[in-house]
Amino acid sequence: METLLLKIDRNEMDVSALEKPADILKNGGLVAFPTETVYGLGANALDSLAIKKIYEAKGRPSDNPLIVHIATFEEMERLVDWVPDMAIKLMDAFWPGPLTMIFKKSGEVPDIATGGLDSVAIRMPSHPIALELIRQSGVPVVAPSANLSGKPSPTDAAHVVKDLMGRVDCIIEGGSCEVGLESTVLDVTGEVPVILRPGRVTAEDIEAVVGSVAVDPAINGDVEFVPKSPGMKYTHYSPEAEVIILTGEEMDVIKQINFMSDNLLKMNKRVGIMTCSENFARYRASVVFSLGSKENMEEIGSNLFDCLRRFDEEAVDIIIAESYEDEGLGQAVMNRLKKAAGYNIIEV
Ligand code: TXA
Ligand code: MG
Repeated sequence: METLLLKIDRNEMDVSALEKPADILKNGGLVAFPTETVYGLGANALDSLAIKKIYEAKGRPSDNPLIVHIATFEEMERLVDWVPDMAIKLMDAFWPGPLTMIFKKSGEVPDIATGGLDSVAIRMPSHPIALELIRQSGVPVVAPSANLSGKPSPTDAAHVVKDLMGRVDCIIEGGSCEVGLESTVLDVTGEVPVILRPGRVTAEDIEAVVGSVAVDPAINGDVEFVPKSPGMKYTHYSPEAEVIILTGEEMDVIKQINFMSDNLLKMNKRVGIMTCSENFARYRASVVFSLGSKENMEEIGSNLFDCLRRFDEEAVDIIIAESYEDEGLGQAVMNRLKKAAGYNIIEV
């Protein structure tokens, strides 16, 4: 398949440039586009055949439901049966933005979009290209992250081109994604909202608006719990190399990482170390990458997926990563990092 590449500058956006991709979406094709979280691979949410193509292009298991993206509040009406009061408060506070909410679905949402569930995930992205594209297409747009299934989510157009060139109709190249981690997924169908996937909108942010919030215990990888969000049970974010996380007192962690690295280097392995700017100069390895300052979790989160992909380009055999505080935005960072590591964590 020939893939149309379309470069669009979000700051000097010519809205007529989006006519073509909007048409492709409306007519059952696939368009990859930037959002503030990660790039999405979009299809018309009301067109079962178009949605089927998404699963094929990504190699995604068909029981993993998709998020429906909308550009106006009015679009909610045809997609859900009813909107709980707490969801209205959360929409006011966080839409457009990186919060996805799970509602009871209406009859208009095809089963293939929700993996057969009777609920539907909905979000209104804040990225101007995403909003304008959805608005011009005139339909709600399902969009999983625009990566091959199992790979780190794409936070830059180059990542999408690498994974999906020749597999989709159009890729909009719109620069890098500000948040860099997928949206927070929040189930609002019960009494208390439950976080199924942590993201930039944190538990504390949600609690401040609606008073209480619970977190699905399965997000930490405890095998006792089956995740309520089907997508969370699959291996994810996996670079080619094995990933190991070390946690503990900072100085002990640094010492132990260097000890492991020295041994692996002696065995002729290519070793990658993922650290923060503060500790960057303290390591010996084949490749050392910094995610940014450990005092700035926004920066760490926005660079994580790109960094995992850069280690692949460096063809390292193993990636040894420092860990972060499992609170606030650190919860989302650690959730993705632990999944990338297949829960391979060493406490020192
Ligand atoms: O930031 C994002 O959310 C990005 C951008 C493109 O918007 N999209 C994204 O989609 O991350 P995806 O398909 O990679 O992840 C969707 C997650 C999966 O974990 C899926 O299982 C969950 O949302 N999900 C979707 N519908 C659900 C439902 N009805 N009930 C529970 N979980 C659901
Ligand atoms: Mg994904």
